[in-house]
Amino acid sequence: MKILAIDTSCDDTSVAISEDLRILANVSWSKFKTHNDFGGVIPTEAKRQHKEFLDPVIAEALKVSKLSIEDIDAIAVTYGPGLAIALEAGIEKAKELSKKYNKKLIGVNHMIGHIYSSLAQDESGKSYSGISISDIKFPLLALTISGGHTDLYFMENHMEFKRLGGTIDDAVGEAYDKVGRMIGLGFPAGYKLETLAKDGDLNAYDFPRPMANSGDLNWSFSGLKTAVLYQIKKLQNVYESKPDKKEFRMNDASMNLSEKEISDLAASFQEAALESLLMKLRKAISQYSPKMLVIGGGVIANQALRNKLEKLCDISKTKLVYPIPMWLCTDNASMIAIAANFYAKNNLYIKDIDSLDRIPGLEIS
Ligand code: KG4
Ligand code: ZN
Repeated sequence: MKILAIDTSCDDTSVAISEDLRILANVSWSKFKTHNDFGGVIPTEAKRQHKEFLDPVIAEALKVSKLSIEDIDAIAVTYGPGLAIALEAGIEKAKELSKKYNKKLIGVNHMIGHIYSSLAQDESGKSYSGISISDIKFPLLALTISGGHTDLYFMENHMEFKRLGGTIDDAVGEAYDKVGRMIGLGFPAGYKLETLAKDGDLNAYDFPRPMANSGDLNWSFSGLKTAVLYQIKKLQNVYESKPDKKEFRMNDASMNLSEKEISDLAASFQEAALESLLMKLRKAISQYSPKMLVIGGGVIANQALRNKLEKLCDISKTKLVYPIPMWLCTDNASMIAIAANFYAKNNLYIKDIDSLDRIPGLEIS
C-alpha cells in the first residue's frame, strides 16, 4: 500500500511517501524562525510556513519517491495532538488531495506515530532500527517521551493501548527545554543540553527525583526544573526572590555562571531527569513483565538515556526498541505513514472526509 503522509503538528512541514513499511521519501521543511525569544513555537508563524511550503514539500516528496499522486493509495495526516492551527494546515491539504484525487483518508494520532516509528524501513526494505514487524512480541510497554508527552502504555495487540501512567505536569522534553533556557541554550534545548552535560559532573548538584515513592507509574518533572532554578540563584548569590513563573522567562538566568557550573548543572539535571524516568520503567517492567519496551519521541535521541535503557533491558531480559536514526526520533511524517499502515489494517479510514477535524489535545487512550 502506497501512502502519502503529512505531519504539521508543530513547526516542521513534513511529508513522507511510503510503500508498506518502506520509506520512499521523507521531506521536512523548518527553515522559518517560528520560535519566540522565550523558546516557544509561534503558532501563527508555524501555520504560515505550512501554508506556504506544503505544496512544494509534497511535490519534492513525490519527486524523490519517483511516484505521482495517482500512484498513491491513501493520504494520511496527523490530526492531533499538536498546535491547533498548525494541525489545521496539514488536515486541510490532506482533505483537498483526498477529494481531488479520490484517495482514502487516514487521520493519525501523532503519538501513535512516534510509537510505531521503529518499524520504518529504508527503500530496500531494511528496517532502520533492525526491528521488523515479526519481531514485535506482546505484551509490550510503549513509552512516549517528547516535548509535550511522557506517557506509558501497555499493549497486548497492535493499536490497542492501555495507559498505565504519565507525567502529572511537564513532559520530560519540556523539562530539558525549560532548563536549557535557564542556562542560556536555544530552543529546543535537548540536544545542546545533552552535549553540555558530557563535560559536567552528574553528581555536582543533588537534584530531586520527584514521585519516587508515589507507588504509581506517574512522573513529575516540574519540581526538578524549579530545583535547578534555585541552584542557579544560589550560585549567583541571589536569595531574595523566590523563583516564580515569570523568572522562567528570563533568558539571562545563567548570567555570571562559569562554564563549569553550567555543564555541571546540565549533567546533574540530566542525571536526575533520566533516573526519574528509569525508576518508573523499572517498576513497570517488574509489574507487567513485558516482552519488549518500545520507545518513541524526540527525547529518545538522547544517548545517555539509551545507555541507561540498554542496561535496564539487559538486566530485565526485555527487548528494547527505539527508532534509529535521529530524524525518525524527532517529528517526521515517515512515522505517520508507518502508523497509517496499522490504521489501514484495522480499516480505520475516515468515512466522511469533511468530518476530520484537528484535536490539539488528542490522547491515545
Ligand atoms: O518528538 P519531538 O520532536 O516533538 C514533539 O512531539 O514534542 O520531541 C521534541 C523534544 C524537545 O523537547 C527536545 O528538546 C527533545 O525532544 N529532545 C531531546 C534530545 N533531542 C530532542 N531531549 C533530550 N536529549 C536529546 N538529545
Ligand atoms: Zn512529536
